[in-house]
Amino acid sequence: MLRFPTVRNRRLRKSQALRNLVRETALSVHDFIYPIFVTHGTNIKEEIPSMPGVYHLSMDLLEDEIRDVVATGIQSVLLFGLPEHKDALGSSAYASDGIVQQAIRAVKEWAPELVVVADTCLCQFTDHGHCGIVHVHEESGIAEVDNDSSLDLLVQTAVSQADAGADIIAPSNMMDGFVLAIRLGLDDAGFSDVPIMSYSVKFSSAYYGPFRDAAHSAPQFGDRKTYQMDPANGREALREAETDIAEGADMLMVKPALAYLDIVRQLKDKYHLPVVAYNVSAEYSMVKAAAANGWIDEKSIVLETLLGMKRAGADLIITYHAKDAARWLKGEV
Ligand code: PBG
Ligand code: ZN
Repeated sequence: MLRFPTVRNRRLRKSQALRNLVRETALSVHDFIYPIFVTHGTNIKEEIPSMPGVYHLSMDLLEDEIRDVVATGIQSVLLFGLPEHKDALGSSAYASDGIVQQAIRAVKEWAPELVVVADTCLCQFTDHGHCGIVHVHEESGIAEVDNDSSLDLLVQTAVSQADAGADIIAPSNMMDGFVLAIRLGLDDAGFSDVPIMSYSVKFSSAYYGPFRDAAHSAPQFGDRKTYQMDPANGREALREAETDIAEGADMLMVKPALAYLDIVRQLKDKYHLPVVAYNVSAEYSMVKAAAANGWIDEKSIVLETLLGMKRAGADLIITYHAKDAARWLKGEV
């Protein structure tokens, strides 16, 4: 007599202990990097409307925030700055007393062991909102973001951040050659041991919308499609990663995360550098909006989503949910 079924996958799901024993992926507070937006002024803690729970913080209120982050067990923050002054060359991005440089110095003083990652880009600091220098072609009048002249300013930005004490430089500008240019610039300035977390595979995405409100960095004309990647392209993503590896990147980032987990998996399988997934602003906003409406269970959704990113191959996750997730992982509500 045929006995059926002999293969029973449910055998290993019978109890919580059995499920724990065969669990393949775990989420840890050590996986998280928490983004923070710093602004000039005093006593400013302004919630970003499309990102509930995320704030613009002035330096005097940053210390409390940093202590809060450290208390959750999170080991790393990613700093973004809102400058007082914007111009065509984004000069506040590489000023030694720029807002990001000030914040890096302060954070390293309050929490020396916290790993401070600096986003290296110009778009928050340029009046046109692009990630590089804009050149207007004389005859056609067409404006474009000039690759090679932008590199010089990005190198200056990275060096000024390392000089302020940044532990990791994270260039997000998507110019060609930015990893090598920044590597050589850091090495020349005596920062050969400061790693580069490259935003290697950064897609031109609608998922950055809330961030651009938060960072006041929306492009004032055109879009970023001539430098950020086409969401349709997976093989080109591998080319971007390979270039960055050849140029000396220490970590590879995929951004956004959710709609691009196939890319995360491919980078994990093909290369041997840590893979970082950026769970970007609109991914956060969508969860917060649905949760505020009572449509989803926020905690379960967030932990499942972050676990999915790890299962896809992410070693690290940059996420606005980091503080909540860290508390939930500790069993707090
Ligand atoms: C700057 C930068 C952006 C993000 C991180 N660094 C915005 C952009 O490229 O438009 C997006 C982060 C997010 O959406 O959470 N280049
Ligand atoms: Zn930018």
